[in-house]
Amino acid sequence: MRAWMLDDFGLENLNLHEIPTPQPAAGELLIKVSAVSLNYRDKALVDGIYMPEKISKGLIPVADSSGVVAAVGAGVTKYKVGDRVTSHFYSTWHDGPWLNEYADFQTGGPINGGLAEYQILGEDNVVPTPLDMSDLEASTLPIAALTPWFVLREYRKVKPGDTVLVQGTGGVSIFAIQLASALGARVIVTSSSDEKLVRARELGATDTINYRTTPDWAAAVLELTDGQGVDVVLDVVGGDGLKDSVRVAKGNGLVAVIGFLQGQSTTLDLMDVIWHQAQIQGIAVGHLRAFEDLVTFLGEHTINPVIDTVYPFEEAHAAYAQLARGAFGKIVIQVN
Ligand SMILES: NC(=O)c1ccc[n+]([C@@H]2O[C@H](COP(=O)([O-])OP(=O)(O)OC[C@H]3O[C@@H](n4cnc5c(N)ncnc54)[C@H](OP(=O)(O)O)[C@@H]3O)[C@@H](O)[C@H]2O)c1
Repeated sequence: MRAWMLDDFGLENLNLHEIPTPQPAAGELLIKVSAVSLNYRDKALVDGIYMPEKISKGLIPVADSSGVVAAVGAGVTKYKVGDRVTSHFYSTWHDGPWLNEYADFQTGGPINGGLAEYQILGEDNVVPTPLDMSDLEASTLPIAALTPWFVLREYRKVKPGDTVLVQGTGGVSIFAIQLASALGARVIVTSSSDEKLVRARELGATDTINYRTTPDWAAAVLELTDGQGVDVVLDVVGGDGLKDSVRVAKGNGLVAVIGFLQGQSTTLDLMDVIWHQAQIQGIAVGHLRAFEDLVTFLGEHTINPVIDTVYPFEEAHAAYAQLARGAFGKIVIQVN
């Protein structure tokens, strides 16, 4: 089979190889990959800034994939040849509270990912692909959709009347807008682009702020909420921007620390944390049971993933390059 392999850190070291097609062991599925979608972590991993000490040379990257079962290993009972399946990211986190050891079992690094014609996944490491979604669409779900869902449904039960703040219009944030809106929340969105903010409104955003033309976007959020702030902040920016996320949290509000687009460390005003009684919650995507709940919810609410661009398999480098420039929603690579 053909597989993109990371021979060393740096996009220039992501090379297309011809290697033997793997065979499924007991409990495993061989999946003919239809599509993968890129997340910022896939780029950070190639760049060598995402748990580099755990990444082996020759890794097949990319966490999120969707495809068709081509063969099953001994003892597999949940899926059969021909079933459409979508990967689950934390392969050993099926339900219950997070255990630190789960971090070692991420699909797409440290474990081989989906940027290849075939992929091996455990039968407990996939969900059935939603019937009303194409494989291209379903490949966007495992990280970008499950992460905001986990915040909005597992760490909080967001309900009509709640206010949610979403930063930017990348993969996680577009799903956050769609999901929070479907849950009945007021959704405030920031972006660097007025044009993207118009599109965010079409997807359910109720209030929008351009963080380029309004650098003190936090003040604008407080003004929009009569000084109260918001119930949930989905912080994908990280770095010192986290201070502003705490600033806009309502009393007892949840600040979900999701991303590190602006940096992996921060200084916080602890008095703000104390006076807001803010709940600062680290987020690591979510577990399989929540993913199954999400798939049901997406079907009930007919939420369609927003795909910015689909690249052919051979043009993986161009897909990574676009991710670095920023996309509206998801970038997908069609494999088979
Ligand atoms: N912890 C987890 O479980 C988890 C899961 C998924 C993702 N993440 C992390 O979350 C972050 C976002 O991931 P992603 O895949 O959605 O990335 P992405 O698709 O590359 O999104 C990038 C977008 O973020 C927005 N942005 C960049 N800087 C910003 C700023 N200073 N203020 C507001 N928005 C800003 C931009 O939107 P505009 O163009 O609209 O300005 C940009 O297009 C990454 O750091 C990723 O590693 C973490």
